[in-house]
Amino acid sequence: MLKREKYDLSSSNTFGLKVSCACHIEYDSVEELASLDVSALPGPLLSVGEGSNLLFTGDFPGTVLRSRISYIKYFDVGADQVPVAVGAGVKWDDFVAKACDDALWGAENLSGIPGTVGAAAVQNIGAYGVEAKDIIAGVTLWDLQKKEKVSFKAAECKYGYRDSIFKSPEFKGRYVVTGVLFRLSRKAVPRTGYKGLSGIDTSSPKSIREAVLGIRCEKLPDPAKTGSAGSFFKNPIVSAGDFARISEGFETVPHYVLDGGFIKVPAAWMIEQCSLKGYCVGGAAVYDKQPLVIVNASGNATSQDILELEKTIIDKVEERFGVTLHPEVEHI
Ligand code: EPU
Repeated sequence: MLKREKYDLSSSNTFGLKVSCACHIEYDSVEELASLDVSALPGPLLSVGEGSNLLFTGDFPGTVLRSRISYIKYFDVGADQVPVAVGAGVKWDDFVAKACDDALWGAENLSGIPGTVGAAAVQNIGAYGVEAKDIIAGVTLWDLQKKEKVSFKAAECKYGYRDSIFKSPEFKGRYVVTGVLFRLSRKAVPRTGYKGLSGIDTSSPKSIREAVLGIRCEKLPDPAKTGSAGSFFKNPIVSAGDFARISEGFETVPHYVLDGGFIKVPAAWMIEQCSLKGYCVGGAAVYDKQPLVIVNASGNATSQDILELEKTIIDKVEERFGVTLHPEVEHI
């Protein structure tokens, strides 16, 4: 376990913002987590993975808990379905790369996403027609209050679009994800329904992974070079009536029809229609190749720059389309 006071979080948030926390603890096992006297730590407590979906709006007065629990265990009994238990601190893409190398299907569309396995199970990350929930069988957590292990089956996690029960206020600060159980498949289940994936080589999970990494590389900023938190906003879900209103004056509007007749409209399209591609506030900018992403373009953007840019985008989209965008990036 590694405990540090007044810790610089610049390399612990993918925006690369220069912020700090009062206390920072890295732990390697559930036992180490269990040994913490949380009442003696500066509050509030915040569990982070790689900080790839967070916007620190200033210095954090509490304690940041960072998992380094890192195991990948197969329960391979030769059946088509292979249960895989993964520690919360494993890098998401290390898990995906290993599954693909071992010819297990299910995670390949989710290649190249920054963050940890624990955070992926909280956020229900998604890309190219697949969400983490599609392969999650269960989640194990540590209850900091009762000091006990608890397990949730996938159905109990209340997964939704970039949402789970673990994001609710009762869970935050009390439960820490320690491990995730996935169910991968030995049988081929290529999922190439997402436009952009049609025509790719689907012979193995690895070939799909290569194709996905190629698309991400074209559309999204390289995390090694440019700070961002991936998509900054969720894609809004509107009624058929609202969609008809949004579409007025356009020949076609990209959209996906959901269950119940609701319609998901790409926020990227709306932001582009507001002529905001490349728009800057201080060091922060709307990424020109994918306007759903806000980047730390100068490398010196402040939280205030990002917050001001966020407000401008929300206001302009609201004014133009009567739709309120909601951030998917968690504000701390
Ligand atoms: N579009 C534009 N202009 C652009 C870019 C996109 O109009 O410059 C429109 C196009 O019509 C395009 C549509 O937006 O078809 C959707 O774009 P894209 O396929 O890039 O996906 P997205 O809806 O913007 C979502 C996820 C991404 C995920 C991609 C691919 C959310 C909030 N974001 O973005 O996830 O990688 O789909 O599946 O749902 C993330 O969550 O951080 C993230 C990057």
